[in-house]
Amino acid sequence: MDIYTFDVVESTNDLARTHIIDRKSEPAAFVAKHQTMGRGRMCRVWKDEPGMNLLVSFALPGNYYANPPLVGMAAAVFIGEYLESLGLSWEAKWPNDVLINGKKVAGVLPEGIWQDTLQGIIVGIGLNVNQSEFPEEYPGTSIKKELQREVALEQPLTYLAKRMEQIYNQEVDYKTVVQVFKNRFALLGKQVKILSKDESWEGIASNINDDGSLLVATGGKWININWGEVTLR
Ligand code: BTN
Repeated sequence: MDIYTFDVVESTNDLARTHIIDRKSEPAAFVAKHQTMGRGRMCRVWKDEPGMNLLVSFALPGNYYANPPLVGMAAAVFIGEYLESLGLSWEAKWPNDVLINGKKVAGVLPEGIWQDTLQGIIVGIGLNVNQSEFPEEYPGTSIKKELQREVALEQPLTYLAKRMEQIYNQEVDYKTVVQVFKNRFALLGKQVKILSKDESWEGIASNINDDGSLLVATGGKWININWGEVTLR
């Protein structure tokens, strides 16, 4: 896969979007040392300390993917696998956060690009690698904080690029992805609060469905939630 590296951009997701809209057929990765308008899920900003963390967006052209959230979940599982290869144990937080010891180490921003039909998927990944300090308003952890040593940013990039190529080549078994994610989802079976676009629910996080949605038991009803953020009640 071609990897394009930049010093400063607004958001690598925008570069990946352009790659797909320009109808490039091959996958590509767009990496930046710093983003001035990094985006997170739920319309949040994604801040970075320049040069410290992996900020990458993979552009995966094509119309044959599993739904974007499921691809995002696969990315979270791949990040987890990479952490495991370093000897770190990880947890998953629905829909696609990766935590170590309860603190967020990586987030994924998947986006489907539609023009009548699906043109491709962008997988934006922010992985905290060598950042040492986290401000109170953005708590988190990094590989360096957990391992007490630095890791070259190329290492997770190379690993993830290979895994993204497998997504592009349709070599990923999403049932296994959901299973692994579920096994790592610490809030499964717990009373949670889910915040979605304009709504919120409380209930028991009961399962993750094959399509990556979250099944919640609330007030005697089952609901499937496709989009949102879940916190412990
Ligand atoms: C989250 O909110 O957890 C998702 C964060 C995703 C951040 C990454 S950094 C690279 C890519 N470009 C962006 O603007 N966002 C994603």
